[in-house]
Amino acid sequence: MKMINVVNGPQNASAIILGCMRMPALSVEQAAAMIRTAAEEGVNFFDHATCYGGGEAETRFGDAFPLTGLKREDVYIQSKCGLYFDRKEFSWSKADILDSADGILRRLKTDYLDALLLHRPDLLFDPEEVAEAFDELHRSGKVRHFGVSNVTPGQLELLKKYVKQPLVFNQLQFSLDQSQLIDNGLYLNNLTTERSVVRDNGVLDYCRLHDITIQAWSPLQFGMFKGCFVDHPDFPELNKALGEIGEKYGVSKTAVAIAWILRHPAKMQAIAGTMNPDHLRDICAAAGVTLTHREWYQLYLASGKFLP
Ligand SMILES: NC(=O)c1ccc[n+]([C@@H]2O[C@H](COP(=O)([O-])OP(=O)(O)OC[C@H]3O[C@@H](n4cnc5c(N)ncnc54)[C@H](OP(=O)(O)O)[C@@H]3O)[C@@H](O)[C@H]2O)c1
Repeated sequence: MKMINVVNGPQNASAIILGCMRMPALSVEQAAAMIRTAAEEGVNFFDHATCYGGGEAETRFGDAFPLTGLKREDVYIQSKCGLYFDRKEFSWSKADILDSADGILRRLKTDYLDALLLHRPDLLFDPEEVAEAFDELHRSGKVRHFGVSNVTPGQLELLKKYVKQPLVFNQLQFSLDQSQLIDNGLYLNNLTTERSVVRDNGVLDYCRLHDITIQAWSPLQFGMFKGCFVDHPDFPELNKALGEIGEKYGVSKTAVAIAWILRHPAKMQAIAGTMNPDHLRDICAAAGVTLTHREWYQLYLASGKFLP
């Protein structure tokens, strides 16, 4: 496994994270097997959110973890808060952050979280309230590191004006198909393509400049949860390129798609959401592959982009 030292954050963290959004579909025993497979493959980082299955993902993990034989201190467990789909609102209020953290710890059956991320911006967020909540969680030892998800540079700046703890993660959508994180840097000022539109105020460069580790969510999906592009008939050119490069390295197309993310010099982590142990083994083979500069471009172009 390729390991990452997050600046001001978790050290020796696996570059591949197991995302537990789909864990509610598993029994406790299946969840334990999934966590064990991850550990065998060198994955020591697990991603959750309060909204995954309405808390069911955290509950399943909390029930399964003791069956794995793993030690709590040997893994990093992260969760996210702020999305209240049941209430039809997003909230970063102090009361909601503190209440969420307690619920997360209870469901995960752990005393502390390695990282707590704010899942998506609350349009009414008050950075001073967030700072107070983070202070309390840090002081009490309930949360070791903090971060955000789907947050722009401006929102990060505003948070940083008040929050004392370093914000060490920004979880963002990034895959060979959904590559808007990097696209506008290539097509800037180009009126012939939608890809030139800056949709995130330059969050990639901001994160790199400020030592914020990007965690790529849905690294194998096309569109917004439309499905996996690997072996999908709508992506013939991409699958051909993934297959050719996979053959060269002796790994699957899926592994090549993940290796494409890990090859980016921003040293991102990729969050794999599969709940199939064989698929996870496949994906983890990506950590042993370093694509050449040329192969990286070959895949980018095969995913439907062009050189301006
Ligand atoms: N911060 C955010 O806003 C946000 C949003 C969404 C997700 N996330 C995080 O990102 C994680 C991953 O998201 P995701 O599950 O949508 O994305 P993903 O990992 O890119 O895609 C998972 C899909 O790919 C399929 N797949 C994986 N390996 C495969 C293989 N070898 N062959 C065939 N199909 C394969 C899976 O099917 P199988 O299950 O059959 O393997 C599943 O349908 C989530 O668990 C969550 O932690 C964060």
